[in-house]
Amino acid sequence: MIKVQTKDSSFTLYNKEFDECYHNVKDGALSESLKKHVEPAFLFAPKKGKLTILDICFGLGYNTLSTIYYLKTNRLNTKLEIISPELDKDLIENLIDFEYPKEFTPFKNIIKSISKDNFYEDENIKIDVKIGNAREVIKRIDKKVDIVYQDPFSPKKNRSLWTVEYFKDIFDIIDKDGILTTYSIAAPVRFALYESGFRVYEREIEGLKKETIASKRTLPLKEIDIEEKRKRSNSKALRD
Ligand SMILES: C[S@@+](CC[C@H](N)C(=O)[O-])C[C@H]1O[C@@H](n2cnc3c(N)ncnc32)[C@H](O)[C@@H]1O
Repeated sequence: MIKVQTKDSSFTLYNKEFDECYHNVKDGALSESLKKHVEPAFLFAPKKGKLTILDICFGLGYNTLSTIYYLKTNRLNTKLEIISPELDKDLIENLIDFEYPKEFTPFKNIIKSISKDNFYEDENIKIDVKIGNAREVIKRIDKKVDIVYQDPFSPKKNRSLWTVEYFKDIFDIIDKDGILTTYSIAAPVRFALYESGFRVYEREIEGLKKETIASKRTLPLKEIDIEEKRKRSNSKALRD
């Protein structure tokens, strides 16, 4: 693994096996996590005392840690249960030594606990990193989730986490008011989300690339007319 500094000065890693960085270097690891995942999730997710989040996949944990950072900085009392699959056990074990941005300094105890036990719990937050293949982990989730951070490596490098069959499993466990956030704006991904039952929206974020948001319900965002797009596109939804 090679450490890479991103635009907002936070660090990410380059993964040789997938030939990709864990974050978009041009957007910044912390900025990408906050602006593409956490902020839209909390803007559109149901206003509930407790939210269940599926963080696909844990990686360096930026999305999980940014969520806690967001709650603290906005003084929100929402309780969190975060379930996060991750294949790479060694990566999790070594997170204790990763150079996180200063915003995450108050969460050292959380990082330590996850690194050691793949688990953290206090009176407001429960984080369960499930070591294994996300496809299998998802099938074993027996509760509805409110938010899905869809943040695997790209569809070209990690196809099995972007297919219709995969998104159908996500559709089955996401709440009727839940939302999915993803950095991918690729047509085959949007078609796969649509074919698995989701309504598909585009969101513009100041200073960053656009993103895709998916939900079962109407959102106050630009909805993509997938039927129309499919007529004019040679792309097809990704399948297993
Ligand atoms: C882009 S990184 C995730 C970055 C992470 N969301 C963060 O904020 O730091 C993708 C992660 O997916 C993991 N991964 C790849 N395929 C997987 C699979 N089938 N099941 C579970 N984890 C997988 C990789 O080991 C890697 O840690």
